[in-house]
Amino acid sequence: MLHRSWAEIDSKRLLENSKNIFNYVKKDILAVVKADAYGHGSVVVSKIFENLDYVKKLCVATSEEGKELREEGITKDILVLGGLLKEELDQFLEYRLQPVISDFSQLELIPDEFSIPIHLKFDTGMNRLGFNISELEKVLYLIKKKKIKIEGLMSHFPSADVDEELTESQIKKFKKIVDTFSKNSISPKYIHIQNSAGLIYECSYCNSVRIGISLYGEKPMEKFPISVKTVMSVKSKLISIKSLKKGDKVSYGGTFTADKNMKIGIVAFGYADGLPRNLSNKGYFIINNKRAKILGNVTMDMTIVDLSDIQNVNIGDDVLIIGKNGSEEISFNDLANLCETIPYEIMCRISKRVKRIIL
Ligand SMILES: Cc1ncc(COP(=O)(O)O)c(C=O)c1O
Repeated sequence: MLHRSWAEIDSKRLLENSKNIFNYVKKDILAVVKADAYGHGSVVVSKIFENLDYVKKLCVATSEEGKELREEGITKDILVLGGLLKEELDQFLEYRLQPVISDFSQLELIPDEFSIPIHLKFDTGMNRLGFNISELEKVLYLIKKKKIKIEGLMSHFPSADVDEELTESQIKKFKKIVDTFSKNSISPKYIHIQNSAGLIYECSYCNSVRIGISLYGEKPMEKFPISVKTVMSVKSKLISIKSLKKGDKVSYGGTFTADKNMKIGIVAFGYADGLPRNLSNKGYFIINNKRAKILGNVTMDMTIVDLSDIQNVNIGDDVLIIGKNGSEEISFNDLANLCETIPYEIMCRISKRVKRIIL
């Protein structure tokens, strides 16, 4: 294999995760494949979901992302979560992309009798995108006047993993919205508010879930009740091995000083591959089923690790950056904890230079 760094995408696991989630929620899945399917490769992932009956839509952030999927032959419905700007309208039409409309400026852009059914988003507590409940009557008036087909009503949970009170209040608020539409004889096909963390909540009037991270195998919280397994593992190569003498400094800025004679290795994976630089002096890789601690600052293309306690290691050996090897494992969550961020960010940051290999 000619790649110095690669990410293995386990398509069987992706399939299994989606099945396990579907069997648990028994609702249609709107699969979130934005941001290159959280770094997994949106085309590959979408091609897998394309054949699943219970995956009804693919959700992207922008019409550009939707266009890329269409150009690769994806025919399933594509929902653009980030809505539309004026200059993007033609792209929506040309590639049959469904916009999520979340404010009046977007609603105005939609031509009367628009040929593509849209989803309307309401803000029930995140204060990001979405109409306010106070705007409901005006929304109803405009969509009737413009004769726009509403295929979906949606909202979003910002804190389903940490704030039960807010989440329950959102479920109630959203129900009022759905009921008001129903009283106005509008009963859209898809009603969705639950993200992965939101799956632990009961939303009896919702008939679909809009999920990303759990499909990719990351539990949104400890007590997540559905069995999911990590889909992506990231690997690289050891490209050099050398010795350090006590007192030698390592890497840019010399932030590590050897307190004894050491054996070190240079791994072909740096911050340009997606390794957060703030893992400098605190992260580790797995080599020969052992932890190799990161020494000094992570550099653009390489990272230096401690090989002093690792036997039988040679230039060209595989290095596990994220994944499981024997009894040792480093997960997206572990890395996120070390960097004080979330697994989503680590996944999305794995860069284009890291070749995706589909298993
Ligand atoms: C609007 C929206 N819906 C659904 C999701 C999926 O969330 P999760 O990956 O936590 O399931 C996201 C993720 O960022 C989102 O922005």
